[in-house]
Amino acid sequence: MTVRLIDLAPTPARLLDVVLAGLGRTPRALPCALFYDAEGSRLFDAICALPEYYIPRVEAGLLRAHGPAIAALAGPGVEVVELGCGSARKTDLLLEALDRPAAYVALDVSKDALLEATGRIDRAFPDLEVWAICADYTQPFSLPAREGPPAKRLAFFPGSTIGNFDPDQARRFLGLVARLVGPGGDLLIGADVPKDPAVLDLAYDDPRGVTAAFNKNILARINRELGGGFDLTAFRHLAFFAPERSRVEMHLVSERDQEVAVADQVFSFRAGERIHTECSYKYSVDVFRGLAQAVGFTPLETWTDPEGMFSLHYLRAR
Ligand code: AVJ
Repeated sequence: MTVRLIDLAPTPARLLDVVLAGLGRTPRALPCALFYDAEGSRLFDAICALPEYYIPRVEAGLLRAHGPAIAALAGPGVEVVELGCGSARKTDLLLEALDRPAAYVALDVSKDALLEATGRIDRAFPDLEVWAICADYTQPFSLPAREGPPAKRLAFFPGSTIGNFDPDQARRFLGLVARLVGPGGDLLIGADVPKDPAVLDLAYDDPRGVTAAFNKNILARINRELGGGFDLTAFRHLAFFAPERSRVEMHLVSERDQEVAVADQVFSFRAGERIHTECSYKYSVDVFRGLAQAVGFTPLETWTDPEGMFSLHYLRAR
């Protein structure tokens, strides 16, 4: 078959609006969806190969170990909808486990990563109908009108990307996903768990500096795509676990007083001033199940690894 592409990619004008608004805010903050241009998606893959970044390794182990249970809960012929597929390296594990899935619909904001991933999956699963939707899934979107009888939907949201939303946004987003899959539809979602701050600090500030490069790529991207004037050597990566909010925060810290122009605006940074680039909330199993329950899902199963590093939840929309 061939991959069907629906292109709803954010335009450069929209990117500029988002960047100017974020840099103009107090405190300054840029949305973490901006990480994922082609270079950012490549750097994220490099993060996933780091020994300190345990998430992909532990989650893949859970998907492998519980594939049969997942397939039994999902049933035959489901339409898998992955929100933010990136290079979709965990997707194969799910698609292999499922009983003759009808379709795979992938959404991602990075068109290069999306086309590469869906192309690979299309070749690996020749009988599967594959759709690629280039979109920011935090903005309204609709799923493709497929031919034939409607299939049960299984949304797939691995990697604990849910942690990028603050808890209110997470509730709203999960509510949207519940409507997206409809009553009786399912969501398989990974959620990272609070743990020793030293482990989290290393996972988000690795000694090789890959995460630092990933974080700084947001500035490099503004330079590339919007003609920004950021000096990448004048900002440093800062990442830490804030236990009172159960979240890892990533920032870019100005090393000195400096002025940076983006389009026709100039932003003045004081030494030590930060741009907040990401939150990564960590949910205990009980808290996450409660949240899912509150927005219209019934938790059917939760799987964790023996060390309790990560959780994978199978939820059904009511
Ligand atoms: C892909 C959003 C789940 O928050 O752990 C990795 C992104 N940031 N290292 C995460 C990320 C820094 C990642 N998510």
